[in-house]
Amino acid sequence: MKKGKKILSTLLILASMSVLVGCGTSSDGAAAAATTGDGTGATLVMATNAAFPPYEYVENGEYVGIDVEISQKIADELGMELEIKDVEFGSIVAGVQSGKYDMGMAGMTVTEDRKKSVNFSNTYATAVQSIIVPSGSAIASVDDLSSEIKIGVQQDTTGDIYASDEYGDAVVRYKNGADAVQALVSGKVDCVIIDNEPAKSFVSANEGLTILDSAYAEEEYAICVSKDNEALLNDINGALAKLQEDGTIDAIVSKYIPAED
Ligand code: ARG
Repeated sequence: MKKGKKILSTLLILASMSVLVGCGTSSDGAAAAATTGDGTGATLVMATNAAFPPYEYVENGEYVGIDVEISQKIADELGMELEIKDVEFGSIVAGVQSGKYDMGMAGMTVTEDRKKSVNFSNTYATAVQSIIVPSGSAIASVDDLSSEIKIGVQQDTTGDIYASDEYGDAVVRYKNGADAVQALVSGKVDCVIIDNEPAKSFVSANEGLTILDSAYAEEEYAICVSKDNEALLNDINGALAKLQEDGTIDAIVSKYIPAED
């Protein structure tokens, strides 16, 4: 089996697993009552990694993006103040697990491995992994990826996990997505594997980059919450359902991701 094919099928298997089991555990009311996470005026501490447009990034000194706006609406629904902590992506799950943060929202893909540590809300977006290359690159499809080239990723993301699995030492890991793309612009890596919407944002913000057609690995984004805080998980799911139903989430998404025609 060709390498590209193999990674593709691995990714699809991983992806369908996370779709099937992507909705986290639902709680029973009794357990929930014990550790209620909400309350008027309380603070909802959200961990994110804000170099991931259009989901979370800094503009004019402020956190903006789809996740930032959705989380603000969730906090409003719960009668809480939102506080955003911009941390390394790879520290979010552990920080939520230990109770350092109430929730993690960072274009975070539901994976089996992460589900061992935290619960996930219902999903609020889907994504695929994309490959960014310099325009005119010899890398024309996923089949051209190999351990002979340098593949840039954001450390601890699904792109990192997939690529490291398949290409090992070929993978160069950066602190955040923006740094990985900078490395591509300056020729330090041959391609970057990253989620599709950030890929589009980075390509439109940087000259001379293009996204390969062969996107792969369907993923689902959700909010992670401590396994000890089922009440908060339920509250978040309730708020998400309401915001989905009344069109708030669609409106936020189309503000940042204009419909393609
Ligand atoms: N969806 C990918 C993952 O969950 C990448 C997320 C990176 N998010 C960020 N805010 N930097 O691993």
